[in-house]
Amino acid sequence: MTGFSHTSWRKPSIRTLDRPSIFLAGVVSTLLLLWAFFSVSTIDSIFIYSRPIPESCQCTQPDPAFNLKFDSPSSTFYDDPNFGYTIDESIKNWDQKRQAWLELHPSFKPKSHDRLFIVTGSQSTPCTGPSGDHILLRTYRNKVDYCRIHGYDIFYNNVKLDPNMPGGWGKLPAVRAVMVAHPEAEWIWWLDEDTVITDMEYKIPLHQYEGYNFVLHGWPIEVYEKKSWLGLNDGSFLIRNCQWSLDLLDIWADMGPRSPNFDKWTKILLDEFNHGPTDQTALAYLIWKKQNDSFGKKMLIETRYYLEGYCMGVNGGGNPWEY
Ligand SMILES: *[C@@H]1O[C@H](CO)[C@@H](O)[C@H](O)[C@H]1NC(C)=O
Repeated sequence: MTGFSHTSWRKPSIRTLDRPSIFLAGVVSTLLLLWAFFSVSTIDSIFIYSRPIPESCQCTQPDPAFNLKFDSPSSTFYDDPNFGYTIDESIKNWDQKRQAWLELHPSFKPKSHDRLFIVTGSQSTPCTGPSGDHILLRTYRNKVDYCRIHGYDIFYNNVKLDPNMPGGWGKLPAVRAVMVAHPEAEWIWWLDEDTVITDMEYKIPLHQYEGYNFVLHGWPIEVYEKKSWLGLNDGSFLIRNCQWSLDLLDIWADMGPRSPNFDKWTKILLDEFNHGPTDQTALAYLIWKKQNDSFGKKMLIETRYYLEGYCMGVNGGGNPWEY
C-alpha cells in the first residue's frame, strides 16, 4: 500500500526510551512476537526462517481443495451491481450474504466457522533505504512459511485501494476488500509488512474469542485509564468476517483523512488522546469510548500472549537486523 511509507510510518513503542536507530526506522518498526506464556518460544527463532518442523508439531493439513471451477447458477451478492469492494460503500446484511454464498459453494464451507486468512501489504514503489526491499521480502517469506505450516491463505496487497487513506489508514480498505473477497474466511489477521512471526508453530487460540469480533494486543490500563494511543498496536490484529466488523471499519474510516469529519475527529483525538489522527489513535479512542456499549464489548485487548511486540523490547534492546 502506497501509504506504508517507511519514513513516515513508524510503529510506536510502549517503551518510549526505545528510539530506533535511523537504519531501523527506515526498514523495520515492529517485530511480531507470538510468544505465548504457555508456549515454548525462544528469541533466537527470530532469525530462523525455515526451521524444520519437529515431529510433535500439530501442523494443519491444507484445506481440502476448494472447488474453484464450480460457480453456482444462483445469483449471490457478487452479482449485485451496487455491491462494491471500496470502503465508501456500506454493506448491509453481510452475515446473511456470506452465509448464502457458502451454502451455494459447499466446497468452501468446511472450516468456514474458524478459517483464518492473513492479510499484509506494502507500498507499490521501492523502499528508499538500500536494504528495505530485501528485508520486506524476508518478512513476507516469514508470513508465507507460517501460512504453509498452518494451512492458511495469505493476501499481499501492494496497490493503493483508496487514494485518500494514506499511511496506516491504508490497512482499512485492504482488510475490508479481503473480507468480501473471501467469504470462506471467518477471521482476517492483519499484519504490517514489517512484522515477523517468531513462533512459527503457535496457533492463534481462536476458540477463545467466541464472544469477540476484534482482538489485538495491548495494555488495557494505558488505553482505558491513561488514554494513550500507545496502549495498543494495530500493526497486528484479528477481525472477524461479519457485519459488526464492516460497521467498525465504517466508523473507524469515518475518523480518517478520506472523511468529511476528519477535522472534527482530529480535534477530538487531540483533546481526548493527546495525539494526532493516526489510524491507531482513532482505534484506541474507539476502544476506550465504546468500552461500556454492547458494540465495544466485542473488542478485546489481549494480554495473555504477544500478538505483537516491539522488536527493541522483545529482543532485549538489540537490533535484530544486524547480522
Ligand atoms: C464506562 O463505565 C465506567 C464505570 O461506570 C465509567 O467510569 C467510565 O467513565 C465509562 N467510560 C466511558 C468512556 O463511557
